[in-house]
Amino acid sequence: MNTQLKNIKFICNDSDVEINIHPGTTVLDFIRNTLRLTGTKEGCREGDCGACTILIGELINNRLIYSSANSCLLPMGHMNGKHLVTIEGLNLKKTLNPVQQAFVDEGGTQCGFCTPGFIISLTGYLLNANNYILSDAVNSLDGNICRCTGHIGIKRAVEKILQNFQYANNNETEKILLLIENNFLPEYFKNILNRLKEISLSLKEEFKATEKSKYIVSGGTDLFVQKWDDIINSDIVLINKSKEKLITEVDGKFFIMGEATVSDLINSEIIKSIFPDIKNYFNLFGSLPIRNRATVAGNIVNASPIGDITCFLLALNATVHLSNESLKRTVPLKDFFKGYKSLDKAPDELIESVSFEITSEKFLFNFEKVSRRTYLDIASVNSSVYLEILNGEIKEIHLSAGGVAPIPLYLKKTRNFLLNKKPEVDIIIDGAAILNEEISPISDARGSAEYKRLLLRQLFYAHFLKLFPEIINAEELL
Ligand SMILES: Cc1cc2nc3c(=O)[nH]c(=O)nc-3n(C[C@H](O)[C@H](O)[C@H](O)COP(=O)(O)OP(=O)(O)OC[C@H]3O[C@@H](n4cnc5c(N)ncnc54)[C@H](O)[C@@H]3O)c2cc1C
Ligand code: FES
Ligand code: FES
Repeated sequence: MNTQLKNIKFICNDSDVEINIHPGTTVLDFIRNTLRLTGTKEGCREGDCGACTILIGELINNRLIYSSANSCLLPMGHMNGKHLVTIEGLNLKKTLNPVQQAFVDEGGTQCGFCTPGFIISLTGYLLNANNYILSDAVNSLDGNICRCTGHIGIKRAVEKILQNFQYANNNETEKILLLIENNFLPEYFKNILNRLKEISLSLKEEFKATEKSKYIVSGGTDLFVQKWDDIINSDIVLINKSKEKLITEVDGKFFIMGEATVSDLINSEIIKSIFPDIKNYFNLFGSLPIRNRATVAGNIVNASPIGDITCFLLALNATVHLSNESLKRTVPLKDFFKGYKSLDKAPDELIESVSFEITSEKFLFNFEKVSRRTYLDIASVNSSVYLEILNGEIKEIHLSAGGVAPIPLYLKKTRNFLLNKKPEVDIIIDGAAILNEEISPISDARGSAEYKRLLLRQLFYAHFLKLFPEIINAEELL
């Protein structure tokens, strides 16, 4: 029984929509079953195949920004005040647009089941990128799987599109006009910015926690995989993105709002300035549509022992900022996990933000992740390290590891051993022995306990090989 109908206003393709609906209804079900727009396909319903990909246009600081998402994991409540673009909304003409035509010309489609998802993702790339680069355009399809054509024809189609159309600018209004002029988008896109501004004036802030609230939903990329059928029958609270800045810095102290997504981290100028390799750390996190939705708070509270953001933040010795109606408090992230999926958090407490301090300008950092499959897979084992060196010795170190215990681990004993020592081969080998005592992996689908022990040792070595190439070489370690 639907217990919680909400009034939601948004634009779907060119049409204004206002509907009373359970906010946890998936966008996929709404567009296919209610709007009867069946171009968006249901494949896996787990965020893996990309057949259900749609675009979300939203006002961010008065700019119209589009991002791709898996509609099978997307709650309708998050469409409030947004522009939802399905494959039907990309071309209102009887002839194919240049992206569709390139897929036909280059053999990029066969049965066609995956094709709408690919066309949507690529259009999202054209709308978003500041200049078009083939490898980036191909990577923007990392969440789309084709089972029958093979990806070579699709890659040829991408090449053809970029050969014929180039644009380098970050002015999204200008870009939209140019995409319309070149038939990539229909005319109605011209007015979406103003239409969304008008809708935003009449939106009500409706989604508040009540005693009956059973689920707190942020990006939904964990919850909708596990519980989508229960969510639709429960009272839920949706965390909307803050209008305030998501990532800020004051005197070397960094704050990340809980609702910041992996894409927000990768694209943040503040984060890029301290972690120039941030894109490399997280480009194997799910796929682009998942990264666009997966939040920092969701990753922490999901409490998976192999959560990538959690592993990254543990090595920054981060602090979690929690709040409910009556209380605000902080907990060190390393003390937040009490046991498997058991947290130092009351059910009504929200993660507002996470903070960490960088105490030295010359700090070193590294993140490593190994999965069974390179793309679209969670880690078998992951690990991160933060290091400060003074006079050749380790003045500060924080180490984390995932997949080797029931909780994401802060490696305290290994840290204490390495403190005030030189990062030299013998020390690293002794450190690995201590690390081996600190972990308790189990055998599961991601590998045997023995394999995970070995893997973590290798990732531990990889940190030092990468950060101290002049001092440490691989042959001496093995
Ligand atoms: C295809 C696919 C690939 C994935 N790949 C990866 C990967 O490579 N690496 C990885 O680490 N994860 C991966 N994930 C898991 C998932 O995307 C992440 O854990 C993500 O960060 C969860 O965030 P979310 O906002 O979507 O969480 P949600 O599903 O919205 O919520 C998850 C949990 O957090 C709680 N929650 C959310 N926000 C708050 C808040 N502000 N305060 C309190 N509680 C809150 C919810 O109640 C729920 O219990 C993948 C998932 C999918 C479907
Ligand atoms: S149906 Fe496969 S990703 Fe949504
Ligand atoms: S064309 Fe058949 S799955 Fe891609």
